[in-house]
Amino acid sequence: MSRQDIPLPQQRRFGETSRRDNWWITPVAVFCGLSAFIVYSTWAAFQASHYYVTANGAQYLSPFYSPVLWDVAGMESGHAWFGQWPSWWPSWIPASPSFLILWAPAGFRLTCYYYRGAYYKAFWADPPSCSVGEPRKCYRGEQSFPLIIQNIHRYFMYIAIVFIFLLAYDAITAMFFVNDDGTKSFGIGVGTIVLTLNAYLLGCYTFGCHSFRHLIGGGKNRLTKAPFGKKTYDCVSCLNRKHMMFAWFSLFWVGFSDVYVRLVSMGVWTDWRII
Ligand code: FES
Repeated sequence: MSRQDIPLPQQRRFGETSRRDNWWITPVAVFCGLSAFIVYSTWAAFQASHYYVTANGAQYLSPFYSPVLWDVAGMESGHAWFGQWPSWWPSWIPASPSFLILWAPAGFRLTCYYYRGAYYKAFWADPPSCSVGEPRKCYRGEQSFPLIIQNIHRYFMYIAIVFIFLLAYDAITAMFFVNDDGTKSFGIGVGTIVLTLNAYLLGCYTFGCHSFRHLIGGGKNRLTKAPFGKKTYDCVSCLNRKHMMFAWFSLFWVGFSDVYVRLVSMGVWTDWRII
């Protein structure tokens, strides 16, 4: 059989493409969305205040601060695991309960397979989009430092799963209101719905993770031999197909949940009690 040499495609210049669609809209939207979230969440983490609500007996805790390991001076959320902020904390490090926990969900998102593809395009044009010329000639991939660190994603996933249960606990706590005599009774406020939806969306995002899917279904030659495993794998696959959608919905909603708790705590918004 005769052999034919096919020339490799010419290297494109930066931004050069034969695409005729508005390919740039997605990376621009990703850049704006992620930038806005990073700026807001960083600001909120530095505040170390208004992260819980006790008005009208509500028990709402911002997901940016959950779980609270220590409460900062002047704040008594009733959620802190170890009480007030420790006196040995170095004064040159800002004291905020958020700093102690936010690294986990941040690391999980940062190393997410979907987000990696999205922010590689949006933040450093690698490439700007499919079939669009990029501003460099070589491709280093994720097999060398620093991007090889992204492989830590599966370990962040284990921590993220724990967070889902903690946030679900917060949502259940938000279903009980403290009465004047100190007893608690079931109730639903708008904040209850906000925090419940937050746990739900984050759960859909986390349990649709590619690594979680591998954990559930990987390593088995025949899933059909394990009916329960097959069912679980199908559920995870279903969430996995909508992973991008849940990535954005949960990102927006977790930010909104903090805004909601913060503004109700500040007295700017009033929490409506539905039940
Ligand atoms: Fe997106 Fe794991 S791949 S969270």
